[in-house]
Amino acid sequence: MTNEEIVEILNYHLEEEIRAILQYLQHAYMARGVDRLPIYEFMEKASIGEMKHVEILAKKVVAFGGVPSMRAKNIDSSPDIKDMLRADIALEEEAVRKYSEDVAKLDAAGQIALKVIFENLVEDEQEHLDELRILLGE
Ligand SMILES: [Fe+2]
Ligand SMILES: [Fe+2]
Repeated sequence: MTNEEIVEILNYHLEEEIRAILQYLQHAYMARGVDRLPIYEFMEKASIGEMKHVEILAKKVVAFGGVPSMRAKNIDSSPDIKDMLRADIALEEEAVRKYSEDVAKLDAAGQIALKVIFENLVEDEQEHLDELRILLGE
């Protein structure tokens, strides 16, 4: 695996993490109704968690000679809290799936440090997913 290929993998996830930050913030700001306060707090905290992931990935992009891709992808702007949670669950499911897939690729390429980082990211995203599913309660 070349450095360029590693940067490509890292930047894919970096953009997804930026999407998560913005989507969680959007959901915090847009939440309406009697559940606004706990949802606001949950979403804001989740957004800060994703910022830590951006930091990890961006530093690695630079370490492998690339430029961090700080592009913002489309985010969900559902006005309904349950729809917000469903959109966030979809985003986290995709994150767990893609990080897990890339753990195998990095392992096969002998990129053990990155593999361990990605394994920890899988764990974090799975935790977000578990919390979101409990919160949605469906
Ligand atoms: Fe993340
Ligand atoms: Fe997450």
